Amino acid sequence: MRHGGRTALVTGGARGIGLEIGRQLADRGLRVLIGARKAEAAEEACRAIGPAALPLALDVTSRRSVTAAVREAEELTGGIDVLVNNAGVSLDGELRPPCLDEDILRATLDTNLTGAWRVTEAVVPGMVEAGYGRIVNVTSSYGSLALMDSGRHPAYRISKTALNALTRMLAAELAGTGVLINAADPGWTRSGMGGPSAPRAPEEGADTPVWLATLPEGDGTTGGLFADRRPLPW
Ligand SMILES: NC(=O)c1ccc[n+]([C@@H]2O[C@H](COP(=O)([O-])OP(=O)(O)OC[C@H]3O[C@@H](n4cnc5c(N)ncnc54)[C@H](OP(=O)(O)O)[C@@H]3O)[C@@H](O)[C@H]2O)c1
Repeated sequence: MRHGGRTALVTGGARGIGLEIGRQLADRGLRVLIGARKAEAAEEACRAIGPAALPLALDVTSRRSVTAAVREAEELTGGIDVLVNNAGVSLDGELRPPCLDEDILRATLDTNLTGAWRVTEAVVPGMVEAGYGRIVNVTSSYGSLALMDSGRHPAYRISKTALNALTRMLAAELAGTGVLINAADPGWTRSGMGGPSAPRAPEEGADTPVWLATLPEGDGTTGGLFADRRPLPW
């Protein structure tokens, strides 16, 4: 199915789940901007995906980089219709609450929460003007308050809980604009972050984000948290 010549931006799209999300979106007929910190990595990913993919220099921790990337994207493609906030880091060591590593907490939030927020802020005005947008925040079941059963990976968990909260706030703010925003948990997936023993292939991890990124016209799904295309408790 073609998606009307729409353009998607996938942050952290040069490897792991992000690369597979880009590949699946291209397969569905979207033009895909592969956002990555390293130009060569983005170019290699685009060669692997095919002609629908274009590289875009993007470090989500830098406001300057985000502004320049979104401007370049608009010049290249006319505008971003779909944003997948996939870029993420998992930096925690063995410390658990009440112990606190402030540097790790700050760095994790800067990418996983504020990074997604920066890019979203930059693309939403164009989406609202167009009356169409799909935003997917790639989160984790580790961020679910309902499933918060240990203090392992505290900075990562809190960053995803906060990303979930941002998803809810944005959905409320953007209600009625044509912009749908949801959070997707890919599940434990083989990647740099998930490691080689994870049970899921990137194809499975990418499925729910891609489904939410391509919700059809008239679909009202927004402000939700999903895994395997089903609601996950907050
Ligand atoms: N794998 C899992 O089991 C799992 C489970 C639940 C949720 N997730 C989530 O899924 C998403 C993708 O993770 P993954 O498993 O594919 O991890 P990954 O293989 O480690 O890939 C992470 C991606 O994020 C990018 N990135 C990190 N910091 C960035 C920054 N400042 N600016 C731009 N890009 C940045 C990386 O780019 P570089 O190449 O430049 O480092 C890389 O492309 C993450 O949000 C993660 O939290 C993963």
